[in-house]
Amino acid sequence: MTSRPPPRVLFVCLGNICRSPLAEAALRDAAERASVALTIDSAGTGSWHVGKGPDPRSRAEALRHGIDIAHYRARQVTRGDFERFDHIIAMDRQNLADLEAMAPSGAGVRLSLLLDHVAGLEGEDVEDPYYGGAEGFATTWDQVRRAADTLLRELSASD
Ligand code: 4NP
Repeated sequence: MTSRPPPRVLFVCLGNICRSPLAEAALRDAAERASVALTIDSAGTGSWHVGKGPDPRSRAEALRHGIDIAHYRARQVTRGDFERFDHIIAMDRQNLADLEAMAPSGAGVRLSLLLDHVAGLEGEDVEDPYYGGAEGFATTWDQVRRAADTLLRELSASD
C-alpha cells in the first residue's frame, strides 16, 4: 500500500486576521476530531497585518468553540503557495479574482470559493466582519464550520 502525503489546504482572505484564520481553525479542529491528516494554513492577499495575531474578535469567537488561535500569525500569499498547496480556498470573490490574477500559468492547484463548499450558499462571499460587530464573527464561524465539514468529507473521499 502506498501512502500519499496529506492534502494541503490554504485559506485566503484580505488581511489574514479575521476570516481565513477562523477557516483554518475550523478545518484543523474538524480534521483532528476525525483523525484525518491534512496540512492547513491561511494567508491574506494584502500585507497590512503581516506578522500580527488574529483580530481579538476572531480569537474570542474561536475560544467560544474551545479553540485557541492566539499563536496564529498573519502572512501574505506568495506565488510559491501555488506550488505548495493542492487547494487554495478564497473567502470572497475579490480574493478569488486576486488569486486567479497571481496564479502562475500551469499551476496544478485547485482554486475555489469557500461557500461553494456549503450547499445552498454556492457563489456567495463570506462577508468581511472587520468593520462590524461581534455578531459578524459568529456568522463567519457558522459558515467556515459548515464548509470545514464538507471539505473534510471531500478531501477524505479524494484520498
Ligand atoms: P480579513 O478582514 O480579510 O477577514 O482578515 C480584514 C482585516 C483587515 C482589513 C480588511 C479586512 N483591513 O483593511 O485592514
